[in-house]
Amino acid sequence: MAPIDTDAAALQNADAPMNRLSHKAAIVTGAAHGIGRAISELFAEEGASVLLVDIDVDAGEGAAAAIRQRGGDGAFCRADVSSVEDVVSAVSVAFEKWGHIDVLCNNAAYLGEFHAVLESTPEEWSKCIEVSLLGTHHFTKAVLPHMIARKLGSIVIVASVQAMVGCASSVAYTAIKASLLGYVLSAAYDYGPYNVRVNALCPGAIQTRISPKPGEPHYEWQCGQTMLGRVGRPREVAHGAVFLASDDASYITGAVLPVDGGWTAK
Ligand SMILES: NC(=O)c1ccc[n+]([C@@H]2O[C@H](COP(=O)([O-])OP(=O)(O)OC[C@H]3O[C@@H](n4cnc5c(N)ncnc54)[C@H](O)[C@@H]3O)[C@@H](O)[C@H]2O)c1
Repeated sequence: MAPIDTDAAALQNADAPMNRLSHKAAIVTGAAHGIGRAISELFAEEGASVLLVDIDVDAGEGAAAAIRQRGGDGAFCRADVSSVEDVVSAVSVAFEKWGHIDVLCNNAAYLGEFHAVLESTPEEWSKCIEVSLLGTHHFTKAVLPHMIARKLGSIVIVASVQAMVGCASSVAYTAIKASLLGYVLSAAYDYGPYNVRVNALCPGAIQTRISPKPGEPHYEWQCGQTMLGRVGRPREVAHGAVFLASDDASYITGAVLPVDGGWTAK
């Protein structure tokens, strides 16, 4: 059977917005590029007001402006997720703007270096811990009081298939992504009684600026790891994020949703 590789096949029936996030205010971290940008765009298309958070000011402002140009409610705030001060300030911006925060998508991660145990550097470990793990924690801690007060909230944490299967030469990244799954379980347990849901999304190989390009051996390897025989698109991850963020997932918490073309099931 020939592999499916057309945009039309991938996104058939999946592109009609249904206002699943109307009246909700959302924060998305790492929103200037790739998966975070796609999540922000689809959240806005589904009716949410979205605060896009990133350290890349030009790209972040551009992403928010593109949402507004298409009639959505998007604003940008520069914040480094590893800085408690930046995070608290970004959450204040969202609260002052919309008066409530219903959805948080922790997507920002450190993607600078990937090494095996013997080659991994202290800097690589520090960045993975400070950005990918503690960045998630700082934002979660800052939004929780707002969600608890209204007994309403959905927190989506972007982990990776690398939290579930082994991959070469990426020990710090893999360890931190796996730790995020533990974070999800613990936070979901503690805040379930307040109707705050916490779930993980595990993207597989998704075509973004950090990904191998078509024709490269690593790209072909990634395609071969999946059941669908292809890499995914950021918007396909965004559809999973919308589901977990929305009331469609009202009885889902502490869960891990792979969006990986079948990689982890293979
Ligand atoms: N692309 C993939 O194949 C893939 C696979 C599995 C998981 N993921 C995960 O998806 C998420 C997004 O990855 P992507 O491929 O879209 O990467 P990307 O580089 O395109 O986007 C990451 C964004 O995070 C921002 N960022 C980085 N450090 C930050 C910080 N300290 N504070 C605020 N923003 C910061 C960057 O500026 C960028 O806009 C990451 O958590 C990544 O681990 C990606």
